[in-house]
Parts: sequence; structure tokens; C-alpha cells
Amino acid sequence: MKYTTLGSSGIVVSRFCLGTMLFGGTGSAEVDAKGAHRIVDAFIDGGGTYFDSANVYTDGQAEEILGAALKGRRDAHVVATKGGAQLGGQPRHPRAGLTRTAVLSSIDDSLRRLGTDYIDIWYLHGPDRLTPIEETWAAVDIAVRAGKIRAVGFSNLPAWAAAEAVACAPVPVAAAQYQYSLVCRDIEDDFLDGLQRHGIALHAWGPLGQGFLTGKYRPNEKPAEGRIAGAAESHEEHWSRRDNDRNWATLAATREVAERRGATPGQVAVAWVLSRPALAAGVVGARTERQLAETLGALSTHLEKADLELLDEASKPPRRYPFRVVDAYFDRRPG
Ligand SMILES: NC(=O)c1ccc[n+]([C@@H]2O[C@H](COP(=O)([O-])OP(=O)(O)OC[C@H]3O[C@@H](n4cnc5c(N)ncnc54)[C@H](OP(=O)(O)O)[C@@H]3O)[C@@H](O)[C@H]2O)c1
Repeated sequence: MKYTTLGSSGIVVSRFCLGTMLFGGTGSAEVDAKGAHRIVDAFIDGGGTYFDSANVYTDGQAEEILGAALKGRRDAHVVATKGGAQLGGQPRHPRAGLTRTAVLSSIDDSLRRLGTDYIDIWYLHGPDRLTPIEETWAAVDIAVRAGKIRAVGFSNLPAWAAAEAVACAPVPVAAAQYQYSLVCRDIEDDFLDGLQRHGIALHAWGPLGQGFLTGKYRPNEKPAEGRIAGAAESHEEHWSRRDNDRNWATLAATREVAERRGATPGQVAVAWVLSRPALAAGVVGARTERQLAETLGALSTHLEKADLELLDEASKPPRRYPFRVVDAYFDRRPG
């Protein structure tokens, strides 16, 4: 395992963060409590110290299962969780979003479910259009001062909202969590420079493209099993977002590099993410210990310059405006 620090928080974490989003669910892609305990143990045996959850994962069960799995060894590990996702339907649930009430109750609920008296990193899970960021951060500040939260982060914020959040956070933002993989490079233009400039540790969720980059799916064959098979249209990994020419070309390049390096395509995909600028940790999901072991093997997969170029060429999305104009006339990059 390798380790890194998160921004200026002083928190040291493993470069893999174990995602718990599917702990406690009953679907075929999810993991029951016993299986989750085994995966947590395997992760710790592999040197992992870092766990990611959220108040909404499996209606709170993911946090409960993680808390139980870390019982007696909580202090040796770093626990991140999130609040702010929408709850219920219409009218808006009083504990939804990032209002003062929602933030304070969400943090207390997470602490109870996790069976701990502090959260190492608490994330704004996404934007809340109805609540000024100053209100959200003022509530977070109360929790920081009470020792309930050690560091803060954000996830899924558009770039303008992220900049606003950085500017008025009660403590320096330590971490940012975004989907990032060879099949989802959308954040590159707007986020990589800014996060580096502010010393914020980027976390990539979905580094395997939710399983696509392991190479287990085939073009034009709608999957019958596995995570992507069960994905609703609102899920990022819905088949319509994976089954396209660029992604298949990316997978072909990933396979080629995997053969060169004696690795699996999934290991190459994860090694690529870990090599990106500003990238601190890959937030990975696993349904079995075997899957987890394969992913952890990415740390010993070394990619050469020619490998990175091949992967980049195949997976690079078209440069958008205004970045095209910036490249051409303003902020030319060396090389
Ligand atoms: N901040 C956010 O908004 C946000 C959003 C989503 C996720 N996350 C976090 O990121 C974590 C990981 O996300 P993710 O699960 O979407 O990402 P992922 O790591 O790209 O995908 C994991 C899935 O890939 C499949 N897989 C893994 N290893 C495999 C292997 N060796 N061979 C074949 N298939 C394999 C498994 O699904 P199957 O075997 O069922 O196909 C597994 O559930 C979550 O648990 C959560 O903590 C955060």
C-alpha cells in the first residue's frame, strides 16, 4: 500500500479508499453485512486505512455496517462520510440538502450510525441551490469546533460552486470527490488546475467505470449481470453512457497496455487514475474480496510514458470552449 496526506489537514491516508456505497443492499450487485465485513478485513490486511461512506448509502445501513466492522479499531482508520443528498420526494424533506438543520442533524445521525464520536472528513455530497454556502459552512463550523469533524471536503459541485466553497470554508478544504476514470474525464478541464492550486486532494470515485474497464462487457450486448446491468438511467454507469465507440477504443487500448505490463485491464485503468495530477486517492468499490485484491494490485502496475500516451489518445474527450481558446491564445502550456 502507498499513503498520502490530504491537503493541509495533516491526515494521512492510504491511496485506496474503500467505498461502502453498496454495503447492506439486497440487489445482486450489493454486499450483505457478512460480505462487507470480509471486504473491510481484506482491505485492512492489504494496508488500507481509509473508508468512504455517506448518510444516504443503503438508507444508512452502509454507515452502520462500516461502524460495526471498525469496532475496536476505529482510531487506526480514517473515515469519510457525506451529507446533503436529497431525501424523500415533494415537498422537500426538512433534513434534505445543506441547510443548517440538515447539516447538523446529518452529522449527528452519521456519528450515531458509525458508532464513533468524530468523522475524519465530512463532505458536502453535492450542491444545494436553495441554501447559501455561508449557511452550510456556518453549520459545519459548529461541528468542527465541537470536535465532531476533523476536516471538510466537497463532491459533485460545479466548478463555480466549488470555487465559492473554497473561498469561504471555515477550515481549508482538504478533499474533493469526483467521478474520474478513463471513461469519464469530464472534470479535467474545470477542476484539475484549481484543485492543485488550492492544495485540495482529488479523490476519484468510479475509477473502474463501475466495472466497465475490467473488460467484462461486450459491444452492443446489453449486460445481463453485474453492476451496469442493474443501473437505472439516472446512474452514471447506465449502459447508454458506456456503450459507445470512444469507450470501446479506450478499453482496447487498456487491454493492450495490460498485456505489455502483465496486468489486468482493471489494474491499468486504476493505475492511470492514480497517475493523474492532483489525484490523492482512488475510491474503489468491490463486491468480493477477489475483486478488491485485483484492484489493489494496481499499485504495482507501473505505466510507462508510451502507455500513458496510448491511453490518453484513445480516451481523451474533445477539448471544450473556452479551454480551446485559452490553449490557442492565452495560457499556452509548455510542451
Ligand atoms: N461522491 C459521490 O457522489 C460518489 C458517487 C458514487 C460512488 N462514490 C464512492 O465511490 C465508491 C466506488 O464507486 P463505484 O462502485 O461506483 O466504482 P468502481 O470502483 O469503478 O466500480 C466498482 C464495481 O466494479 C465491479 N468490479 C470491481 N472490481 C472488479 C473486478 N476485479 N472484476 C470485475 N468487476 C469488478 C463491481 O461491480 P459488479 O461486480 O457488480 O459488476 C464493483 O461494484 C463507492 O462505494 C462510494 O464510496 C461516491
